[in-house]
Amino acid sequence: MTSDGAPLSCTVRTSANIALVKYWGKRDSDLILPLNDSVSLNIDALNADTTIVASSEFLADSVEVNGKKYDCGENTRFYRVFQAVRKLLESRESSASSRLHFEVVSTTNFPVASGLASSAAGFAAIAYGMKTLFGFSQDEASRLARLGSGSAVRSLDGGLVRWRRGTRADGIDSVAEQLFPASHWPSLRALIFVANDQEKKDGSTKGMQMTVETSSLLQERVAGVDEAINSLTQAFAAKDFSKLAELVMKDSDNFHACCLDTKPPLPYLNDTSRLIIDLVHRFNSRKSEPGQKNEKQPEALGAAYTFDAGPNACIYIEEATMCEFLKFVTKHLRFSPGAKAKIQEILGEDVETLLDAPLILDLIYSTVGGEPQILAHQMS
Ligand code: DP6
Repeated sequence: MTSDGAPLSCTVRTSANIALVKYWGKRDSDLILPLNDSVSLNIDALNADTTIVASSEFLADSVEVNGKKYDCGENTRFYRVFQAVRKLLESRESSASSRLHFEVVSTTNFPVASGLASSAAGFAAIAYGMKTLFGFSQDEASRLARLGSGSAVRSLDGGLVRWRRGTRADGIDSVAEQLFPASHWPSLRALIFVANDQEKKDGSTKGMQMTVETSSLLQERVAGVDEAINSLTQAFAAKDFSKLAELVMKDSDNFHACCLDTKPPLPYLNDTSRLIIDLVHRFNSRKSEPGQKNEKQPEALGAAYTFDAGPNACIYIEEATMCEFLKFVTKHLRFSPGAKAKIQEILGEDVETLLDAPLILDLIYSTVGGEPQILAHQMS
């Protein structure tokens, strides 16, 4: 290890995750312990490449994300994560290691803090990098990630991941667990419609605290989450997309109802988001128009929307339905030249350009992501 002060370094690629049953509300704000369990899928196309260098020669910690330097002073989340690493190392009686400082440089391939879970990918990378450098366990990595951002815990594994709220006051049992690897459902896709790529006004941390303090609806939500997760896990096991879609949209709607029940309300969705919600329902019910369905059997749902604390839509869909869905939405939405080019590539045909429709700035097309990857690792 670094008894001679030489740096250790490691570069990790982690994916952002988008929850199917969302985390909203903390039972302990300092330790970032959630009020309810949550479940998410990693989004392969949304990733952060993060290099962590540890050295006892550094005088202070430093963090840079997409070229922007972040404060690592006391009371910041970065500081808490780095202090927790130093404490863990101290408990192993490794005195040189406890004097270590860290330099983190991260690049994301998507806009930071616009409701696309960038902090999850970033803090998961730091935690996974520390695990790699110092041989921490997966549960220790879970706890480090959680001190950075709750949802980061779920990016430490691939596929469908459940973050358990845990019941202990010290949060030791509030860790992530993989329910199914990404390979379980290879035809599952995510389409992210970026309606806004600016930093949001009320981030998740502040927003969820306001909801906890002022919404009575939240208690009802929290009470129903375990049942929703159990049903979702069963639907996922059986690869029952229609059931999955029903549960995912129900959770998103319920979460945004709690946001609107907050005082003052948190209107994370915008007109474009609401149009996309309407389009998904129209797409799903189009499939059950007379003549297209067996009247006795309700027709299966083909697409599901979910929205985090922002206006960007994540549509979960199966590969076989995706082209039909894209053709449908291009009749109602306007796409930037970049987003349009991506759709044309997926469809293999030109799409018409609408002049008078809400604009989608970017389209992200993804398979389900796996666990973090080590891109480089140097033990000097
Ligand atoms: C709506 O994990 O960003 O995306 O723990 O305060 O950092 P902190 O919050 P954060 O909240 C995520 C909220 C969400 C739902 C989810 O990802 O489960």
